[in-house]
Amino acid sequence: MTDIVAEMTNKLLVDAGIKKGMSVLDIGCGRGDLALLLAEIVGTEGSVLGLDFDESALAFARERFRENKLTNAAFIHADLNNLSLDHPQFDAIVGRRVLMYLPEPERVIADLGALLKVGGLMIFQEHDSTMSPGSIVPMPLHDQVNKWIWDTVEREGGNTHMGFGLWNLLAQKGLAVEKVRAEAVVQTPSAPFPLTPIVRAMLKRIIQTGAATEEEIDITTLEHRLDEEREKSKTTYIREMVFCAWARKFAL
Ligand SMILES: C[S@@+](CC[C@H](N)C(=O)[O-])C[C@H]1O[C@@H](n2cnc3c(N)ncnc32)[C@H](O)[C@@H]1O
Repeated sequence: MTDIVAEMTNKLLVDAGIKKGMSVLDIGCGRGDLALLLAEIVGTEGSVLGLDFDESALAFARERFRENKLTNAAFIHADLNNLSLDHPQFDAIVGRRVLMYLPEPERVIADLGALLKVGGLMIFQEHDSTMSPGSIVPMPLHDQVNKWIWDTVEREGGNTHMGFGLWNLLAQKGLAVEKVRAEAVVQTPSAPFPLTPIVRAMLKRIIQTGAATEEEIDITTLEHRLDEEREKSKTTYIREMVFCAWARKFAL
């Protein structure tokens, strides 16, 4: 998670109403980045339950919390597509970049609704490729690298336009959408994106899906080439739009 995205997430959680003492479910928690932010806000009076179907990500998250001596979170293995969770209702259910990977997100939201207290919050942050990349000066290498990343996600079945779908998804029976907003992830000549680490982390998937070849990527020189293009362009560049939305459960 980059600092800029962490900042957006933290602001989202606070603006939506996550507070000390709450019990929160983090769906598709991955390696626990969002759970860490949540654990800090809810404090020791509150609790976080991270849920994912990737055992290795869960093991990483558990170890991370153990190392940081954080005791207000637990992590469980479950598949959102086939959810059966025996747990008292939560004050909030939160997810980041997870709805985009679900084949039937409407059904999952409906299932999650049953796990939320009346008055409770559903809060989501989804990244969207629809209006990006954007710049006044051409940035062909940056555009190419972004395309590799989004193409890979799409070829794996991800919906890269989920941000625009958030309102429709949340405006379900029993949920009142309180806010949808979007913010751009922006690079300036003096503040680069960590694009190369993202490509490095996704390298196997990019090649496996055929979004690009190893030769096209040339990972050993990529950072240098991106830096050169950024420094030469002297431009501000939009990489992606981050949509944030929250809704509240009301009594039917
Ligand atoms: C892009 S990662 C985001 C991780 C985390 N929310 C974050 O923002 O750092 C998407 C996560 O959703 C999880 N995921 C996708 N589909 C899932 C499903 N059907 N059930 C549970 N977890 C799922 C993946 O295993 C992965 O950890």
